[in-house]
Amino acid sequence: MEMSGDVELETPRARAWASLNDTGVLVRCIPGCESMTVDADGRYRATVVSRVGPIKARFEGRVSLEDVDAPNGYTLVAEGAGGAAGFAKARIDVRLEEPAPGRTRLGWVMRAQIGGKLAQLGSRMIESAARKSAGEFFDSLRACVAEAEAARAGAWTAERLGVALPAVEAATQAGTVGGSAPAAAHSRDITAPPSARPGARALSPALAALRASVRAASGEQARRALEAGIVRVAVRDGIATVTLDRPDSRNAMTLDMWGGLPAIVAGLERDPAVRVVLLAGAGRDFCSGADIAEFGTVRATAAQASAYEIAVDACCDAIAECAKPTIAVLRGYCLGGGVHLAMSCDLRIAAPDAVLGIPAARLSIVYGVGGTRKLLALVGVSQAKRILFGGERLGAAEARAIGLLDEVVEAPAPRVEGGWLRRLLGGAPAAAPAVDPLERATVLARAWAANAPLSIAGAKYILNGLAIRDGGLDEDRAEALIERAAGSDDYREGREAFAQRRAPDFQGR
Ligand code: COA
Repeated sequence: MEMSGDVELETPRARAWASLNDTGVLVRCIPGCESMTVDADGRYRATVVSRVGPIKARFEGRVSLEDVDAPNGYTLVAEGAGGAAGFAKARIDVRLEEPAPGRTRLGWVMRAQIGGKLAQLGSRMIESAARKSAGEFFDSLRACVAEAEAARAGAWTAERLGVALPAVEAATQAGTVGGSAPAAAHSRDITAPPSARPGARALSPALAALRASVRAASGEQARRALEAGIVRVAVRDGIATVTLDRPDSRNAMTLDMWGGLPAIVAGLERDPAVRVVLLAGAGRDFCSGADIAEFGTVRATAAQASAYEIAVDACCDAIAECAKPTIAVLRGYCLGGGVHLAMSCDLRIAAPDAVLGIPAARLSIVYGVGGTRKLLALVGVSQAKRILFGGERLGAAEARAIGLLDEVVEAPAPRVEGGWLRRLLGGAPAAAPAVDPLERATVLARAWAANAPLSIAGAKYILNGLAIRDGGLDEDRAEALIERAAGSDDYREGREAFAQRRAPDFQGR
């Protein structure tokens, strides 16, 4: 059986290519796909429930990509066995062209072979089912692309950050970052250098100067990272998604990304439209850690190495101390500095294919104090030593078991009950389960976004102080946060809403 077609997507070719390589997108688009994971050899393993005429079967299959020519196309080779129903094999050549800027034409040619009971159904029935599935796939892909483009419409641009930057920089220097009410309440002391916090280590003048220069560079680095598109920020319905976007290097962090994130986080903290921040990676992975390829230029000397580590710690501290709650969304590799980024978020939600590890001992790097402190708080001293001494990689289940991850999403249930026949007859689609960690994180983020920002900011400040902050908890500051929430409009709103049996509408003041 051979069939072909083409479809127009309203997105540039590079983004269409990224979607075609994104497991989350593929799971959403392949009709009946229950799960898809990536094996160590880079091949996908998928479970797909399919119905052709009277035969319904669950296919367990392997999918690999051949002749990969990014971003022009690949050949997708799939083989699935559906038990007594038979088997299916397919080769799908996918080509991407960009007929006009911002538009992609995706052409495909599928050659398929069916065996077993399915083959007895007759070629017309099989072809019509295959064509229908292909139609559903491309309709869903168009929907995914449209969603991503809509999110981009709310994307933060360098210009938008540029508007915020002078204020962010000035405020950071003065220790007053956080124009929005909850952020202002929270951040005053946190953005000050650690030596200014009660109980924090006293800094040598040289180290203090180095930290100040790292902070001062943040705005410009943020602008560069956003302009280069290696960090993307989209804000939608109160949820900001910060995406590390260098999928070709598995989202390895460049110095501009480390340096720029604090200014970006400060900007999000100031933005009253933002209630929760998600940190994710583009494509299959979260982050493979620091960009080792850059080490020869940006981390070549001892002085550069210490400035580099300061930038990494400043980045992760900025995320950890953001007054707004943060969730790391992990899939694929999360290594080295990537683990530090993830640990700096308030929660870590992962796909089953997540792999975590800190290979510092294999690169003769001492993992920094900030990252080690966070690791210790999450997993305890023995597991922290095991992770750092061994440099081994942990699968999602093991990382979850020792507390490095908070949640691993389950393999998804079928997207639509009853398959194509039921849809054809107008059956209602089943409620979509959380098929990927971003979806699950978004559900949580929505719930957090509806709660009182001052309450969350206060809880976060106190917990961070008790668990991970250099210098411990500043109890005066904690008391001030408690008092501020108690005197807030939101406190009154919470009580009124309770009495009136309605949902509260919190404003963060
Ligand atoms: N810095 C720079 N480039 C990186 C990178 C990193 N941390 N991690 C991956 N890459 C690049 C690879 O060099 C490769 O680039 P290429 O296609 O131009 O050759 C690409 O990403 C894909 O990685 P590859 O190694 O081919 O994939 P893999 O599936 O075999 O292995 C990793 C993936 C992540 C396990 C492996 O790349 C790795 O170990 N990376 C280093 C992780 C690390 O030590 N991080 C801590 C840094 S302090």
